Amino acid sequence: MSDPQIITVPGAVDLHVHLREPSTNKAETISSGTKAALLGGFVAICDMPNNPGSPTWTLDRLQAKQKIIEEKAYIPVATYAGSQPESDNIDELEKMAVSAIGLKLYGGTTTGNDKDYSPADFLTILKKWKQVAPNKPIMLHSGKDNLEEFIKLIVANSGQRLHVCHVNSPDDVHIISKYKKHSLPITCGVCPHHLFMASHDVKSRGWFARMKPPLISQDKAEELLEMLASGQIDIVETDHAPHSIESKMATGEENPEGIDNPSHKTCYGVPGLEFALPLLFYQMRQGRLTLERIIDATSTKPAKIIGLKISGRTKVTWQLKDYRINNEKTQTLSGSGWTPYLGMLASGKVKEVTIGGKTLVRGGKITSKYPKVINAGDEI
Ligand code: NCD
Ligand code: ZN
Ligand code: ZN
Repeated sequence: MSDPQIITVPGAVDLHVHLREPSTNKAETISSGTKAALLGGFVAICDMPNNPGSPTWTLDRLQAKQKIIEEKAYIPVATYAGSQPESDNIDELEKMAVSAIGLKLYGGTTTGNDKDYSPADFLTILKKWKQVAPNKPIMLHSGKDNLEEFIKLIVANSGQRLHVCHVNSPDDVHIISKYKKHSLPITCGVCPHHLFMASHDVKSRGWFARMKPPLISQDKAEELLEMLASGQIDIVETDHAPHSIESKMATGEENPEGIDNPSHKTCYGVPGLEFALPLLFYQMRQGRLTLERIIDATSTKPAKIIGLKISGRTKVTWQLKDYRINNEKTQTLSGSGWTPYLGMLASGKVKEVTIGGKTLVRGGKITSKYPKVINAGDEI
């Protein structure tokens, strides 16, 4: 283990978290999730709309969520609007577009959506969004073999900005790169679990290594890390998706074989805000990523995608010291109380956090909060 090192960075922005409030999933709250984010080195996060039992499909629901953020959040939070072919909320899109940071579409199965769609099913939604929010991005969870068709429909045909969430396959990155070459407004993000875990982990970690999209082979995970290092993958997003230990185990099977058997009735998703940056810093100390690329992928580029400005008055100071993730009770802050990264090496503890000139963490301890809903054009 090497010597401690102090670095100060602009603070990370996570475009992909599920804070679960309000919803029937009680494994997280806006308070607990943003606390985990703050001590994970994030200065702004964006909350997804698939709240179990209460998806963010109407202005009322969006505003109810925003009210909790303004009261309880530790750091600024942006909120996405959601729309699905069955949600019947076209008239809500215009109202939500004012304060939502973007529109999330679920084109494939995951928590809150049980089928793969044909991209054409979203035509009416896409048309409306283009009309009411031409500059706000669409965040896509693609489904089985439908990524390229979605890209054609959203970016190539209408020029709307598209961010492809949680890529887990180098082939998908190649497809995205093909469209980027034509200067089309498309970006993609990768999650730490798809970089630092692999399909074999499902054998030992069981349900705690199950998420959508699923883990992939070690070779491919390493290829994704190279694609992140080179900038071919634009950003890192955590897809922090907390579920209680009980609901992850609800199937009653202890050590599921295979990585994506649809007959296994469990919920998909893993928490990740606490360790995203420490896992990346560990790779940096191993020589696989530069600090410059980490800042670009976790701060500069995600902020640019949502139109958020990060001022010089927002920064995070880390003490980089390698450690093992070995105690879920003391090292995790998410309400779910577990981590898929148990046993892995990481580097870095947050020492100071300042957002917009206000100090929130001093000496590793939280001293204040910054509960604010943020939107495109805002500066923190
Ligand atoms: C996410 C969740 O639980 O909300 N699950 C997951 O496996 N990633 C939904 C999602 O981002 O697909
Ligand atoms: Zn998803
Ligand atoms: Zn997600």
